[in-house]
Amino acid sequence: MDKKIIIAIDGYSSCGKSTLAKDLAKALSYTYIDSGAMYRAITLYMIQNEIDVNDAEVVVANLDNIQLSFKYNEILDRNETYLNDRNVEELIRTPIVSQNVSEVSIIKEVRQFLVKQQRQMGDSKGIVMDGRDIGTVVFPEAEFKIFLTADVNTRAQRRYDEMLRKGITISLEEVKQNLEHRDNIDTHRAESPLYKADDAILLDNSILNRDQQFKLVLNMAKKIIENLNPKEENINSEEEMVD
Ligand code: DC
Repeated sequence: MDKKIIIAIDGYSSCGKSTLAKDLAKALSYTYIDSGAMYRAITLYMIQNEIDVNDAEVVVANLDNIQLSFKYNEILDRNETYLNDRNVEELIRTPIVSQNVSEVSIIKEVRQFLVKQQRQMGDSKGIVMDGRDIGTVVFPEAEFKIFLTADVNTRAQRRYDEMLRKGITISLEEVKQNLEHRDNIDTHRAESPLYKADDAILLDNSILNRDQQFKLVLNMAKKIIENLNPKEENINSEEEMVD
């Protein structure tokens, strides 16, 4: 059986990480894991239980009550997030969660709790995981690392359009402010801040469309996978050519 790899995609909020990760996972028949969804689900739990997300001690004490999982939805063709066996895929994308998730994700014990589960998901490889610390902390040994970026106005417009499509009422300015707030916390927090791993490739997709970016990255991934799995036919056909 072909050896599989781990693909780690990190970058700022709303720069298309999940779109690229899903496209790649589908093309390679790998599993896609949205690590941000896990931080969002914990945040949702705290909101639903009226726990102050700034009170780290209480947040941490509640981690034992949280069980997270992903289940594939065949109709929608996507992995969906479950919090204590309830589907929360839509709820974790609401503005109230986006506004509180950074506070939850700076807590060291929350990160340890999730990193452990994320590493287990990568045990048998064949996964594409996106987030902020995947190539640096979760899978520093990942075979392929990508760091995505795009300018903040492009990202705000994309996220705003997505929210409009979902019928969420919010202004473009609010979306942009939330992105800047999260970027600031993500890059400056003490625990696992967002930064590009030395061995990650840097991609600015402000000027690349979804298809261009996908093809470029898929080719790179295929080369890495081919190098891990040298094919006998390739060796034979080279010999034939020499003959
Ligand atoms: O990818 P996203 O926007 O859904 O992530 C939500 C938040 O979770 C983000 O603001 C920062 C945090 N996060 C994190 O700290 N580490 C990760 N690996 C993924 C997300």
